[in-house]
Amino acid sequence: MARLLVSGGAGYIGSHTCRALTEAGHQVVVLDDLSAGHAVAVNGLTLVEGDVGDAGTVEEVWRYHGPIDGVVHFAGFIEVGRSISEPLAFYDNNLLAASVLLEAAVNHKVRAFVFSSTAAVYGTPEVQPIPEDAPIAPINPYGRSKAMLEAILADVDAAHGLPWAALRYFNACGAHPDGDLGENHEPETHLIPLALAAAAGRLPKLDLYGTDYPTPDGTCVRDYIHVQDLALAHVLAVEGLLGGRSGGPFNLGTGRGYSNREVLEAVERVVGRPVPVVEASRRDGDPAVLVADSSRFTAEFGWEPRFSDLDTIIESAWRWHQRTWNVMGLGGY
Ligand SMILES: NC(=O)c1ccc[n+]([C@@H]2O[C@H](COP(=O)([O-])OP(=O)(O)OC[C@H]3O[C@@H](n4cnc5c(N)ncnc54)[C@H](O)[C@@H]3O)[C@@H](O)[C@H]2O)c1
Repeated sequence: MARLLVSGGAGYIGSHTCRALTEAGHQVVVLDDLSAGHAVAVNGLTLVEGDVGDAGTVEEVWRYHGPIDGVVHFAGFIEVGRSISEPLAFYDNNLLAASVLLEAAVNHKVRAFVFSSTAAVYGTPEVQPIPEDAPIAPINPYGRSKAMLEAILADVDAAHGLPWAALRYFNACGAHPDGDLGENHEPETHLIPLALAAAAGRLPKLDLYGTDYPTPDGTCVRDYIHVQDLALAHVLAVEGLLGGRSGGPFNLGTGRGYSNREVLEAVERVVGRPVPVVEASRRDGDPAVLVADSSRFTAEFGWEPRFSDLDTIIESAWRWHQRTWNVMGLGGY
């Protein structure tokens, strides 16, 4: 049993990971300022409501809940578009605030630091599926903030001996099989929840950005990884680092891409209703294809995606959205 601090644990991927860590027998303390997360998602766990960039708050976590064996760091801003219009806010939260947490981790001799990175560090990669040694060439402040923190982690490890893993997620999606945790971003920018809301009539339309990409059906291809598979990857990563395994950057995806049109077809299959689509022009900075080569993480940590079949992903998300709309008094579809 390890004692773990999970920053951003009240968010989408963090809350699923907290549950997986708890089920694996670990003791979890969540540090989240609830700027985007939901206290209800960490019901039953210790939640410290505060900012990872506030050194006093972070010290209090150690004082009242330490010693901490490992940190899993999800906290940060996630919207690529906002990172372009508000780069300083992104660097402030994703880098400066993170460095406060990192400093505490070093001072308190934490033995594992697992960080939420992203496929966005690769920018517009030339090789598919993408290996970890593909060029790091992010094309927006969001991706750059993640790539920079990865570099900082390597430097901190070299200087102070902080075992770390940066998990580069591809497209996180789906909801917990129990139906009580799911994706609840505001604003929502991800395809599957938007398509489900459009199919249910809760959004007037779904904008499909770009139909002239050099892909089989002209729409972008992405690698969709179930949030439950991501959660289990974090359990393996933190346990592996604490057990002395070597870290570094790791891709997390399935190695299989689906086009936007294929995702929309799957949504229509699951919901049983059409998705009202409006074709729009490409968005800046959307590469045609992003598919992960995750073999390095599989080899090092024995991880295999188990929930990431497309229909399983969409069925779990659909169950959760219907339940949430009901709970919010919006009526189920
Ligand atoms: N969702 C994806 O597809 C995806 C893909 C790649 C990487 N990531 C990364 O994974 C992480 C989690 O993503 P998510 O989709 O769960 O996002 P999310 O917004 O649901 O979760 C982030 C959490 O961090 C909290 N937070 C933000 N800034 C904070 C701060 N300064 N102090 C304390 N708490 C703070 C928010 O309240 C929220 O609960 C992020 O770092 C994101 O960049 C997500």
